[in-house]
Amino acid sequence: MKQVLNRLLFAGALLALVSHVSAQTDAPPYAQAVDAGAVATVHPLATQAGMNALAEGGNAVDAAVAAAITLGVVDSHNSGIGGGAFVLIRTAKGELFAIDGRETAPMAAHRDMFVIEGVADTRLSQMGPLAAGVPGSVAAYELAMQKAGALPYAKVLLPAASLAEQGFAIDRIFAGRLARSAERLAQFPGSAEILLDPEGNPWPKGHTLAQRDLANTLRAIAKEGSGYFYKGAFAKSVGDWMAANGGVLTAKDFADYSVVERKPITTSYRGYTLVGFPPPSSGGVHTAQILGMLEAFDLKSLNDGDRYHVIGEAMKLAFADRAYWLGDPAFTKVPKGLVQSDYIGRQAARINMDSVLDVTGPGTPKDVDVDLFAKHTTHIAAADKWGNWVAITTTVNTDFGSKVIVPGTGVVLNNQMDDFSVQPGVPNVYGLVGTEANSVQPGKRPLSSMTPTIILKGDQPVMTVGAAGGPTIITQVVQAIVNHLDLGMPLDDALAKTRIHQQWRPDMLFIEANMPAGTRQILLNKGHKLKEMGPYGSTQAIAWVDGKWVAVSEPRLAARNKD
Ligand code: DON
Repeated sequence: MKQVLNRLLFAGALLALVSHVSAQTDAPPYAQAVDAGAVATVHPLATQAGMNALAEGGNAVDAAVAAAITLGVVDSHNSGIGGGAFVLIRTAKGELFAIDGRETAPMAAHRDMFVIEGVADTRLSQMGPLAAGVPGSVAAYELAMQKAGALPYAKVLLPAASLAEQGFAIDRIFAGRLARSAERLAQFPGSAEILLDPEGNPWPKGHTLAQRDLANTLRAIAKEGSGYFYKGAFAKSVGDWMAANGGVLTAKDFADYSVVERKPITTSYRGYTLVGFPPPSSGGVHTAQILGMLEAFDLKSLNDGDRYHVIGEAMKLAFADRAYWLGDPAFTKVPKGLVQSDYIGRQAARINMDSVLDVTGPGTPKDVDVDLFAKHTTHIAAADKWGNWVAITTTVNTDFGSKVIVPGTGVVLNNQMDDFSVQPGVPNVYGLVGTEANSVQPGKRPLSSMTPTIILKGDQPVMTVGAAGGPTIITQVVQAIVNHLDLGMPLDDALAKTRIHQQWRPDMLFIEANMPAGTRQILLNKGHKLKEMGPYGSTQAIAWVDGKWVAVSEPRLAARNKD
């Protein structure tokens, strides 16, 4: 079992993490800051698209959406309009918006759709026609721009369409992702036609990948709005293909999709206000919980080993809650008590400085029936001179999502159905387990770890951060905040510092390989089961420091993209 979990965690999540690395070239860089604002993404062309939007009079919302749409062209193994997105905005006027463009399960989906003769078959939730939910990104970006953008949607879609038509040079990481997915992509003619050469081999690094169908789809959305995607020719093409290929997603599922505006979670942390994304993201709840528990400790005065111990224990308690309590709030009762300070304080009091805690299950917050949140990924950080700050995390889930491109559309469809708990206790590709709260139900949104976050001091934003990497998203975000705001590290050092990850099951403390022996020994002495992993993660952040923007894209990217 342990071996399976490790394989899942490493083969899935952690190797997928490496996919978030895109080319780091001298120019243009993948994080840029000028007086007008700042943008950080995992691809220089996407960052440049965001900067171009700013140069054309757009604000941070336009810049972030331009970057997101461009990532779908140049980084389609991670994200694109065939996937979903969470958009978190703090406007210059101080309004907060949380726009939920998460996928929904088709109406013909059901609890046991991935269970064959009593056994969950995660191949079906991870690849092919049954793996995809209705993509929400197109609607989420449209709504974000209507609410808080300065430019029309078409203005950010059309440059991405031109780039799709002209093509871009495949970098080492994209080529690696293609090579690893080639056999599976080959099973879908629409995908093979674009992503493989005529002999069926993956395109190599340096090949100029032109995507004419994707260009046409982006242009049609620019012309007709999201109606083209949800109620027009795109939805019909997908529905027809699904019907002919054993899928259950229909044009009506697309027509019924609705983007949801939610109330961000705001909690306080050591004098800051954390603004996080509510369920179906688990990110906002668990960053609030983990940081809230950490507030009971003077992190600055601890040595690295003791500090990692406390952080790892807080992560474990939070992830045990995740597995039980969290799901789409329209379908399951997610108690608000999870982020209330009395509950968090009680959980923090369970942490023992000398030894690890045996966490056997979730905690018990207050009012669990009545006080409710009822109603391979990428992160984009953007901010502008007017005071708009934007955090978008968006994904098709694992590399090239379901591997399906419906012929004629150019759009990689997600495999977000695997983020449901396909059978209680059966781990998904990230080794995450869940229960009924996150079971498959028609129209339901799968639980997500995506954690777009904005942090205020008083009413002024001081930092925005988010990441890619399944459940490690939450723990990357926590560590970026602790390192920068609590330990006072410069933002690039805060992101570069050795990371840990604890997700309750498997009950192990994952550590980056460069953790010094002395620190490991402190953790071993307290009873942690350590599991080493290579450098991982993909965090993007922007901070306002001494009257200047500091924009940082994952410091580990450069080393990973070296030939
Ligand atoms: O929403 C989620 O939690 C996942 N679909 C995120 C996937 C991800 O970060 C892929 N990167 N490794």
